[in-house]
Amino acid sequence: MTFLQAEHGGPDGGPPVAHDFSTNASPLGPPPALWLAVQAADRQRYPDPQYGALRRRLGEAHGADHGLVLPTAGGAEGIRRLTLAAWLDGRREAWVPQPGFGDYAIAAQALGLAVKPYAAPADIRPTAPSLVWLCEPCNPTGTSEAAWPDLAGHLVVVDRAYEPLRLAGDTPPLPLGAWQLVCPNKALGLTGVRAGYLIAPATDAAWTHAQSLAPSWVLSAEGVAMLSHWHDAATAAWLADARAQLREWTAAQRALLADLDWLQRPSCTHFWLARPPRPDIATRLHEWGVRVRDAASFGLPGWVRVSAQPPAARQALQQALLEIESEDA
Ligand SMILES: Cc1ncc(COP(=O)(O)O)c(C=O)c1O
Repeated sequence: MTFLQAEHGGPDGGPPVAHDFSTNASPLGPPPALWLAVQAADRQRYPDPQYGALRRRLGEAHGADHGLVLPTAGGAEGIRRLTLAAWLDGRREAWVPQPGFGDYAIAAQALGLAVKPYAAPADIRPTAPSLVWLCEPCNPTGTSEAAWPDLAGHLVVVDRAYEPLRLAGDTPPLPLGAWQLVCPNKALGLTGVRAGYLIAPATDAAWTHAQSLAPSWVLSAEGVAMLSHWHDAATAAWLADARAQLREWTAAQRALLADLDWLQRPSCTHFWLARPPRPDIATRLHEWGVRVRDAASFGLPGWVRVSAQPPAARQALQQALLEIESEDA
């Protein structure tokens, strides 16, 4: 069997690039007060192994029982842990969005769950007790679904990684009884802080597994600090301003790419899928210190995912594209 390989935007092990359009992390973070709290995190002691105060804070913010809140070492760890919990709970199929975040399928394949990609919600037709991943809004498309089918009896998880970066439209109603995965480091521009959390719908068997599979002190002191300030009024106000700025940059960048004959798909976030007029653009741009995310691993050869970046980066992108065009003329 060939195992799927994780591929992500952002740092790729090579030298850093000057202008990175390949990551979905907000280019604006972090909010100043929250950042001060992260820097002041007490690294000299273990955090509370129960994360009691943090779980109460998060539970209160979500209107959920704090016992249902399970801290994770980031969204990626939450995906792995919940997939294992689902497997132990007898789930044998994993339904994953296609195109979608690759970690869902990789985690499922590693445990021997049958991976079932779906293009649209109506395509989700489980034939066995299943784990169903919804990504709202979805990475890499940046799209949002108006409604989801009735998936009662299945372990449904809504990955809300990009909810705080929703630039248009409202959050659709989430399926009743769904788990939620919240990983705010992308919206906060703090992806180096590995912290997120799951909210379970009930203290059922999957919750018991997900809770008992967590390593002790799964969250670092910095992670506790970030999540403790995630629901502060100051963070919410900063995020509202960030979204306004990202709307502006998204519009400007879309106009620039349209002028250069890029095909672009709609999205409600600051990242989206685009097809450049020449297929090798990801490699060519890299030579100019500009990185975009090749979308081939999403099953979309010839496409890339780009995120909105500040004006200086946008100018560098434009310059590089014009130079490449003139080289090829
Ligand atoms: C949809 C989605 N979920 C989860 C993650 C994992 O995020 P992290 O582990 O940094 O919290 C990512 C990262 O790119 C993502 O795109």
